Amino acid sequence: MRRLRRSPLLRDMLAETRLSVKDLVAPLFVREGIDAPVPIASLPGVVQHTTESLVKEARRLVGLGVPALVVFGVPAHKDPTGRGASAPDGVVQVVLRALRAELADEMVLIPDLCLDEYTDHGHCGLLDKRGGVDNDATLERYCEVALAQAEAGAHMVAPSGMMDGQVGAIRAALDQGGYSEVGILAYSAKFASALYGPFREAVDVTIAGGGDRRAYQQDYRNGREALREVELDVAEGADMVMVKPALTYLDVVAAVRAAVRVPVAAYHVSGEYAMVKAAAERGWIDGPAVALEQLTAVKRAGADLILTYFAGELAETLGS
Ligand code: PBG
Repeated sequence: MRRLRRSPLLRDMLAETRLSVKDLVAPLFVREGIDAPVPIASLPGVVQHTTESLVKEARRLVGLGVPALVVFGVPAHKDPTGRGASAPDGVVQVVLRALRAELADEMVLIPDLCLDEYTDHGHCGLLDKRGGVDNDATLERYCEVALAQAEAGAHMVAPSGMMDGQVGAIRAALDQGGYSEVGILAYSAKFASALYGPFREAVDVTIAGGGDRRAYQQDYRNGREALREVELDVAEGADMVMVKPALTYLDVVAAVRAAVRVPVAAYHVSGEYAMVKAAAERGWIDGPAVALEQLTAVKRAGADLILTYFAGELAETLGS
């Protein structure tokens, strides 16, 4: 075996997996009511942007060759129904219009479609009388959000709330609203993970009563069930499907890749990023090397696209 490993040139020539800038999607945060970017302590190097600074960052990412971004909003006010998620002047709609004006089609704009950043109780949907998340009432809200995002210039929407039937409902709403060209990147196999901690700081979300999302996100003990979720989403019209988080679910990524014919994305989430940054800060690991190894592994497992907070950093080293 060592004959093929003798030189960097041989190793490069024979590499089975090549991570490219074109595989990366940058998740970005925009916060309402601030006049300068605010750093997120648990995500070193990541900030809550103003509209202006987010547009500037998107422009920089385009220059580096990053093809797409996912945007999350942090509204100034939260309420029981998450009004800001679908308001025409909601923080994500405002930044989408600014991005579209600045970049037109130079970058694929994919707003995250959920309510948790906007609800005062922190759940991804509307609550019923007993405090549970009401699936079908939530679908109606998701359709309103999808239409608001499409109207503001989204190329695709990315529903992340794990309600049953969300992809089919959103697809129908977009089609009826005249947005049949707007695609759906479905967070299909999204697990109830402890790795979303830093993200919740980034979007200022606390789930009421110390609750969790296990009644809608997937149980991490289940792999076959992830395939059912993915198959349902494809049948409902998902253009692309996603597995999330990434590294603890590489088996799921590989199984999904084998099972479907649509593009597969994986989300290297906030906790995965934060662990690398924290250990690197202590000098315990070589951060950039570990990031490259981890993200290459996600691609090797079968992901066509990777959402990662390392996108900008990695794009600088990978070149476009
Ligand atoms: C929900 C959403 C979450 C993430 C993306 N969309 C958090 C959650 O489900 O609690 C997590 C992303 C990350 O950790 O990087 N809208």
